[in-house]
Parts: sequence; C-alpha cells; structure tokens
Amino acid sequence: MVSSDKLRYMLHSLPDANATEVTVLCGGEGPYIHDTQGRRYLDAVSGVWNVSLGYGRADLIAAADAQMRRLAYGSTYAGFANEPALALAEEISKIVYPSLNSTYFTASGADANEVAVKTARYYWHRHGLPSKTKVLGLDHGFYGTTLAMISASGLPAFRSGFGPRLPGFYTVPAPYPYRCDFARSNESPGAAAVRELERIVLAEGAKTIAALIVEPVQGSAGVIVPPDDYLPAVREICNRHDILLISDEIITGFGRTGEWFAMTHWDTEPDIVSFGKGVTSGYLPLGGMVVSDKIADVICSGTGENKWVHSSTFSGHAVSCAVALQVLKAIGDEQLIDRSKELGVHLLEALQDGLTSHVVGEVRGAGLMVGVELVADPVSRAPFDPSLRVGDRVRRKAQQSGVLVRSSGNTINLAPPFVCSRADIETIVDILREAITEVLDL
Ligand SMILES: Cc1ncc(COP(=O)(O)O)c(C=O)c1O
Repeated sequence: MVSSDKLRYMLHSLPDANATEVTVLCGGEGPYIHDTQGRRYLDAVSGVWNVSLGYGRADLIAAADAQMRRLAYGSTYAGFANEPALALAEEISKIVYPSLNSTYFTASGADANEVAVKTARYYWHRHGLPSKTKVLGLDHGFYGTTLAMISASGLPAFRSGFGPRLPGFYTVPAPYPYRCDFARSNESPGAAAVRELERIVLAEGAKTIAALIVEPVQGSAGVIVPPDDYLPAVREICNRHDILLISDEIITGFGRTGEWFAMTHWDTEPDIVSFGKGVTSGYLPLGGMVVSDKIADVICSGTGENKWVHSSTFSGHAVSCAVALQVLKAIGDEQLIDRSKELGVHLLEALQDGLTSHVVGEVRGAGLMVGVELVADPVSRAPFDPSLRVGDRVRRKAQQSGVLVRSSGNTINLAPPFVCSRADIETIVDILREAITEVLDL
C-alpha cells in the first residue's frame, strides 16, 4: 500500500474521498495479480476489463521482445507504415463485421472514439452536409475521459468540475430493462428506448445529427445488456435518418462477450467500431477504429482541402501491434472466444444460484462480462441510499478477501480473464457472497 499523499507525484483518481491508500501492483500470472505487500488477488475484472488473456504470458512477452529488437518504433505518419500495423489491420478485417475492413490505430479507447466521431462528421461534410455534426450518446454510457467523450457520456459524474459540455453532444435514454420508467403499457423497454431515440432525432433534426455512439453492452453503467429488440431497431432508425452508428467495443471487443464483437449477438452491423483494451490484453497501449467500406471509400478519395487529416505519434505502434497480432493468434489457437462464452454462462449461473440473498436485485451479463445489481428492496427495486456506498464497500471487502471486482454505484462488475478456471469462478462467487453478507450484515 502507498498512502495517498505520495500520489502528489503521480496524480490519480481515488475511488472515493475516504480512500487514503492505494494498492501497488507488482506481479502476476494467469488470472492472479500481486501487490507489493505480498498479497495475491484473483483478478475478476481483468485489470480494467482488458487483461483478457491473463498476466505473465510468455508468448506476448516474446512478441514484444522480438518486435523491439527488429524495430521498436516505425511511424505510420503520411507515407510510412510498419509491418505489424499493416498485418494487424488486415487480421482485424477478417474478424470484425463483414462490411468493415479499414482500421485507423490509436493509443487508447477514448482516442478511438474521438477519431470515430471526427470521421462521422467528415463523412457527412464530404457528402455536402456540413451541418450534420451532432453526436448522440446513451444515458449511463461511458466513452472515455477526453472533453468530447465526457460530453457524449451519460455519466454526468465524469463532467463534474470540467466546465460545460461541448456543444453538439446529447444523451438519449438507454435500454435498461431492470430500471425502465418510461415504457408505456405493453411497450418493451427496448421499444421504449427506440421510441425515445427517434423522438429526439426528430426534435433535433436528423439533418443535424452525424452519429449515435453506443456500447453494445454498457460496461461502466453496470453491465447493462440491451433487450433483443433494441439494437436491430436502432440500426433501422440510423438507416432511415442517415445517422452513422458507432459501436464502442472498447470493452466488448475481442471476445469479451463470447463473440469477436458484441453487436453480432443481435445480427447488427455498425458503421464504425472503436476498440482498445483487450486488443493487446492490456500488455501495451493500443486502440483504434474500423470503418465500413462506404466510409473508407470517402476517406481514401479525399484530396486537397477535402483530405481526412488525422494522425498521432503512437498510431499503429509497432510493438503494440506485434503484441496484438499474438493476442489474436492465441485467441484463435486456444479457442478463447468459445471459452469466454462457456465460462460466461457458468459464471452467470453460478452467481444466480450462489447469490440468493434478498439484496441481489439482478444478475445479468454477456459472456465474461457480468453485473450484479444490489438493491435495498428486490420487490420495489428500490436502490440503496448512495451515501451508504454499498457497491464500493462490497468491492473493498472482496479485495480484502483476495478477489478484485469493480463497482458502478451498487452494481458489482465482473470480467474475469478468459484463462481462469471453473474453480476460479467458484472462488469469485463465494467471496462475493461473503462480502455482500458482511457489508450488509445479513
Ligand atoms: C466503453 C468504454 N469506452 C471507452 C473507454 C475509454 O478507454 P481508454 O481508457 O483506453 O481511453 C472505456 C474505458 O474504460 C470504456 O469502458
């Protein structure tokens, strides 16, 4: 542990105002991670939803080592490229949605969403529609912490203290089946969210809207899985109103939900996908966007003042891309997408069977991405008073017992590495049950 005054040197967002210490991590193998006090944790959130293949993998270390020796840095600025970046872009086109084949690489998830939004605006500009610039995000949505992304976000806490939202960014209701208070009688939560989306599109004017950005499964919101009627209907509205659909798959991409990319669960294709996190299993920073062929055609045909101009020093970093290539190979060789699907079902069932306490309102998830929403009253679904910080206390108690989880309000988020065992899943469920019982004095 290091006390928070030491963090004067390394600025850090503490989990809450009462926290005085942080855990200093220093080693790991498989799904386990260690701190400098010699404690070992089962990492049930894969770092920050990203270390999907677990810690200490020799194949990923070797891939980085080999690439650093060959060429550590090779710019992808105008007129240059490097071998791993080119190879990775080609590999991604084989696993992502069929009509999306062209990748631009970034160094983080927020960067990926930034370039996705810029590209959506550029696309309409090139179509002679420069007023189509507005961006819609979802309630509870999280897309990163740059100014534009906190403006698109539906989690106001991330905007607090940072001044006004950028103009042109709006939030629309999300489908949150467990807590949908705007559905009419006989209307499903998915249909209600779609109706609200279209109402806002018409009110703002489709001629002014460039894109809608959605996480197919909302992670930081507490793993909100949309009902089956939602995303296909969103796609249809976007088509009808000429709005580009951006799928933020920074958490959900690369197998987290049991498919390479999550909109596949609903047979829906976006126009742009943003990715990050799991693409390198967290071993090195990398993100990016993949665009549809119709958008790539526009980008590639831009000349003079109409050129698509975007770049950054670390775009397509050779070592990050070499590691990502090895991640894709390992996912294929070790059939880790199927494993994520199967273990995800097991985790969901084990939680549903094992967490029988009356404070467990809902257990929900897709693949190895699961949320456990704790409630004061399961009948009325009344949430706990936020001042009780139930989610955060459960998170801390689980950490003291050797399992790392995350909390979003009173929802406990789980996203274990694909390489954890069934016994690890049992441990996660047991420790979580104990933590809930102790915190709530049940
Ligand atoms: C859905 C989603 N989008 C974007 C981001 C931002 O990614 P990064 O932290 O790499 O900028 C995150 C990070 O947690 C995320 O969960």
